[in-house]
Amino acid sequence: SSEHTLDRDCTTLSRHVLQQLQSFGPEAQDLSALMNRIALAGKLIARHLSRAGLVADTLGFTGKTNVQGEDVKKMDVFANDVFISVFKQSGLVCRLASEEMDKPYYIPENCPIGRYTLLYDPIDGSSNVDINLNVGSIFAIRRQTDDDLDQSASDLLTHGRDQLAAGYILYGPTTVLVYSIGNGVHSFTLDPSLGEFILTAENIQVPQHGPTYSVNEGNFWQWEESIRDFTRYVHRHEGYSSRYSGALVGDFHRILMQGGVFLYPGTKKKPEGKLRLLYETAPLAFLIEQAGGSASTGTERLLDVVPTELHQRTPLVIGSTEDVSLVESFIQERL
Ligand code: AHG
Ligand code: MN
Ligand code: MN
Ligand code: MN
Repeated sequence: SSEHTLDRDCTTLSRHVLQQLQSFGPEAQDLSALMNRIALAGKLIARHLSRAGLVADTLGFTGKTNVQGEDVKKMDVFANDVFISVFKQSGLVCRLASEEMDKPYYIPENCPIGRYTLLYDPIDGSSNVDINLNVGSIFAIRRQTDDDLDQSASDLLTHGRDQLAAGYILYGPTTVLVYSIGNGVHSFTLDPSLGEFILTAENIQVPQHGPTYSVNEGNFWQWEESIRDFTRYVHRHEGYSSRYSGALVGDFHRILMQGGVFLYPGTKKKPEGKLRLLYETAPLAFLIEQAGGSASTGTERLLDVVPTELHQRTPLVIGSTEDVSLVESFIQERL
């Protein structure tokens, strides 16, 4: 019926966040404003990606390496700066911590201490940028729980259950924003003609099992025997299908929507794995649990991990509960 279609077109992100926030206290307005800033950052990055290669200085490397020891791409820097500029005037976020910055960025003026911190991976899957394949941005919002005068940001080093909100933007054929403020997982699709993210799926529930397993099998020689046992198992049993895009956000979104398991285990070179806790694995663990799935390091619930430093990495096994426990059963066998 007509009002239904109109209604569908009008459930914007801001309206949806406010609708959900009835059960929230004074933070309701803040979270709505924060999510709107995330949406603006997503639109600015999506627009820049859609012109990558056409506009100067969008593709390729900067020649610098980041605190991770990775070669930084021009798009990494652009997206990193977009989040800073978008949150600068918000008056809500006083500190931003990113994969691309050694130390957090402190917003100097008009920012009352003790509000919120944005933790983010500005471009996830940077290796896909120059070949027009999907990339994402991952974010988590936490309260700033002390004045952090020594700028050590030590109040950020807590378990992932302290996250207030988490989500990601997937820059694909359409731009999709997925988020949770602890009240279910919801997805929005950007309608460029409206410049609005429109609600497309509410209270997403990940299937208990799915056919996809997503892992970089090129690392087989570097894995623990238990992970090799898992892949030998799926190689011998029908009903599994391998999908790996090189961008965590894209691989995760497939698992969230259709079930299965993504893993980035520890390797010989990186015993703690490659993915970073505070702005990659913890935000996604928050989402998957809200969607009825699970996330672990292989031996510990991911949301219980307490980091000792800002860019700490963790191994990751995430997705449908049945498939995550299957991986964990191989690990348990060899403990
Ligand atoms: P980023 O581009 O933010 O550094 O993240 C890349 C990550 C993740 O997106 C992806 O799943 C993983 O690196 C791929 O790593 P491998 O190439 O080692 O498989
Ligand atoms: Mn990187
Ligand atoms: Mn990443
Ligand atoms: Mn990144």
